[in-house]
Amino acid sequence: MKKFDFEMLYDNISIFDEHIIIIRIDFNGVILNVSEAFCKISGYCKDELINKKYIIPDDEVSNKTYEVLCTKIKNGQGWTGEVKNIKKDASLYWTKDTAYPNLDLNKKLLYYDLIKKDITCQKELILKKRILIQQEKASNIGNMIEIIAHQWKQPIQTISLIIQKLTVDTMLDIEITPKVVDGIVNDISSQLTHMNNTIDDFKEFYSIAKKQEYITVEELINKASTILSPMLKINSIELISNIKSNKQIKIFINDIIQTFINIITNACDAMIENKIKNKKININAYNNNEYLIIQIEDNGKGIDNKIINNIFKAYCSSKTHGTGLGLYICKSIIEEYNHGIITAHNSNKGAVFTVSLPL
Ligand SMILES: Nc1ncnc2c1ncn2[C@@H]1O[C@H](COP(=O)(O)OP(=O)(O)O)[C@@H](O)[C@H]1O
Ligand SMILES: [Mg+2]
Repeated sequence: MKKFDFEMLYDNISIFDEHIIIIRIDFNGVILNVSEAFCKISGYCKDELINKKYIIPDDEVSNKTYEVLCTKIKNGQGWTGEVKNIKKDASLYWTKDTAYPNLDLNKKLLYYDLIKKDITCQKELILKKRILIQQEKASNIGNMIEIIAHQWKQPIQTISLIIQKLTVDTMLDIEITPKVVDGIVNDISSQLTHMNNTIDDFKEFYSIAKKQEYITVEELINKASTILSPMLKINSIELISNIKSNKQIKIFINDIIQTFINIITNACDAMIENKIKNKKININAYNNNEYLIIQIEDNGKGIDNKIINNIFKAYCSSKTHGTGLGLYICKSIIEEYNHGIITAHNSNKGAVFTVSLPL
């Protein structure tokens, strides 16, 4: 194979200076040299950078990342990672950095080169998608309030009955012993705990996920069905789950729950619209070598063949008041944030959504 012509490279070094964002930093973190491209992206001129300390944004993640980078290169290893940078005008930009250390004969670090690739656009796109996910959650708030109101009805009725009974007992001069008081306190507290748990479920669901956590599919489905159970009950929908996996997977839990909520809400809509008598949703979960596979099947007559190839695209909806964002967001949550796969097909009963998450 013909080798790369370094003479040519040398002749055209200005092209590299202009286009490759590179910075050379010594063992004390002092900048030795920078390329023109680095000056362009950072807004500084060479004189303002050379012989000055290399500055990173002062936040926990950036400090931690820089610490890891320093440890690696001091040991003579390379490093790659995504970092936040500050420009001269104090605005931020994102780069994917690769560090190449240069050691002396005694394996002591002399300096290292940081090559940066501008990834600000990709990062902004991810941020916009996260905002969209939050907006979709917010657009469901009306539904959620209805669900909370429904969940709270029973305990409020129970508490008011306890109070009524207490009033009647007092009127009838029935002795209220400490044992009776204990019983009342226990009953009321258990109702209040139930009410409190409902709020906690939602509070957790609406909080923005910061990191991935470990969970089994059973716990995941339990969490989703706690949130969905009032809606399923009101519409007489039976949820049958058959789980054959106890593996822990690392995911953004609330986002995956939102995926299940979107899929199951669509299934409910289809079954209600088609006036299905015995409305059923079957959830099957199992592992293969690489993935945890979760299949959600309803008996609502399936997805309209005219739109089946477009349902994961934004704004594709067959409903009068649909947003057409539910499945688009599901796809982005599963595939972009959790590196899984989501697909849909029709069975002889209804729609089948298959979510595969890497183990
Ligand atoms: N379980 C299902 N059965 C039949 N059609 C479905 C099902 N799930 C989704 N769809 C179809 O996919 C479309 C897109 O769904 P979605 O992105 O959630 O948007 P929306 O629910 O707002 O219409 C729906 O309008 C519907 O036509
Ligand atoms: Mg929907």
